[in-house]
This record gives sequence, C-alpha cells and structure tokens, in this order.
Amino acid sequence: MANKKLIVGNWKMNVDNYEQAKVLATKCRAVAAKLAKTEIVVCPPFPFITAATTTSKIDAYHMGAQSASIFEGGSHTGSVGAKMLSDLGVEYVIAGHSEERTAGDTNETVSKRIARILEAGLSAIVCVGEKTRDEGGSHLDFLKVQIKETFANIPIDKAKKIVMAYEPVWAIGAKDAMVPEQVYEMSLFVKKVFSDVFGPDAGLKVKVLYGGAVNSRNARDIMTIGKVDGLLVGRESVNMPGFTELLDAVDEI
Ligand code: PGA
Repeated sequence: MANKKLIVGNWKMNVDNYEQAKVLATKCRAVAAKLAKTEIVVCPPFPFITAATTTSKIDAYHMGAQSASIFEGGSHTGSVGAKMLSDLGVEYVIAGHSEERTAGDTNETVSKRIARILEAGLSAIVCVGEKTRDEGGSHLDFLKVQIKETFANIPIDKAKKIVMAYEPVWAIGAKDAMVPEQVYEMSLFVKKVFSDVFGPDAGLKVKVLYGGAVNSRNARDIMTIGKVDGLLVGRESVNMPGFTELLDAVDEI
C-alpha cells in the first residue's frame, strides 16, 4: 500500500548459516502479520534468500536482496542478476549501499544496477549519503551530484519503482544516528533533488528512508521528527528482540 511506512532490514553478512536465516525470517513474518501501518522488506545475503521465501502471502512482508549485477545475464562469474532474484520472489533490491561504493561502486555502476533492477520489474532501494559534513554545506553539493549522476540514464517513468534511502556514511555502523531534526532537513533535500530529476509529481510521491545506526530506541523520533517514510536498518535487523520493538514502535505512529 502506497502510504504505509517501509522498514528495510539489511542483514549484510551478519547471518552465519541457513538455519539462522530461516529462524530470523520466520520471526519477521510473524511480526509482519500483526503490522497495520507498516511493511517490512527482508534482505538476506544471496545464499540465504530462499530461507526467507514464504508460501503463505503476508501483505506486509516482502523479500529483498542486497545488490544485483550491472549485467543482464551472460558470462559474468560471481554475479547475481536481477531477473534471477525476481524468479526467487524478490521484490526490492538495494543499490548503491555505501559499503558497495567503498568496494568500488561508482555513480555510473550504481546507475547500471538500478537499470537492471527496474528492467526486471523490481523496486530499487537507492542508497545515497555524504561521507562528511561541514558548515559550508559542501555535503549538499556532494549529495546533489551523487543523486543526479546515479539516475543519469534512468527513464522518468520508472520513478515510481524507486525508494530513496538517505544514509549519511558516517552514521552507518556508528553508535549514534543523525539527529532527527537533521534527518528532516536532509530528507527534504533528497526529495527536492529527486523532483529535479524525475519531476515534481514523482518528488512528492517518492518514499525517502533514513539509514545509519537506527535502533529500537531512536526509531520513533527519527520517523516522527525526521518525517521520513521509513528506515533502512542494519545491525538492529538481525537482533530480533530489538527489531520487533522497533517495528512495534513505528507501527504505533
Ligand atoms: P546500521 O547499518 O544500521 O548497522 O548502522 C545501516 C545500513 O548500512 O544500511
């Protein structure tokens, strides 16, 4: 449903084995079944995606993946294509996470990933965010360029299948999240640049999530004061007691 809040759990490599992935996914489904105003996307590592598949449809539970290849198919050793993910029941794919950008992803390659994800009919969760901030506001220029280059070759009519995840790189894996007042400013900025690229209507409709050190204690303020449409959660998404608390707190808003 378009106006539901969206909570994305990015498990990264924080799950050791298939059994653990199955237990986590089962618990996520149980929580999702009780949510009224919130939807979950669960993003396991590739080998464990099938551990998160569900035979009984729960409207608030969606399968996601952490990345997809820049290629459509063919001889690309080690790559996983968006169409393959779609075949497993994946609906959302993260693109441009800062950990992948650090490992060599550029705005240009992120753009190619997004194109493949969208061509496969999936939704792209596109991560953007500055590495550092300064009084002069150079982080705003950085973000603007990053967003514009990242969407350089994406057709305008695909905007509705894009979810933005604003993640200041310095907050990812950190102790503290960005303060909610700043989250508000930055999410507005992301919407503004998105509408520069895709048009004002798309800018109004796009969901902007916040990510970076989100947990059960700060989620509510980030959502209400930061006025974001959802959260991209790393560490807390594999800590089931904390993740359940976070989901309940967000669903109550
Ligand atoms: P974190 O990760 O919640 O562990 O800070 C967030 C992310 O990388 O998306």
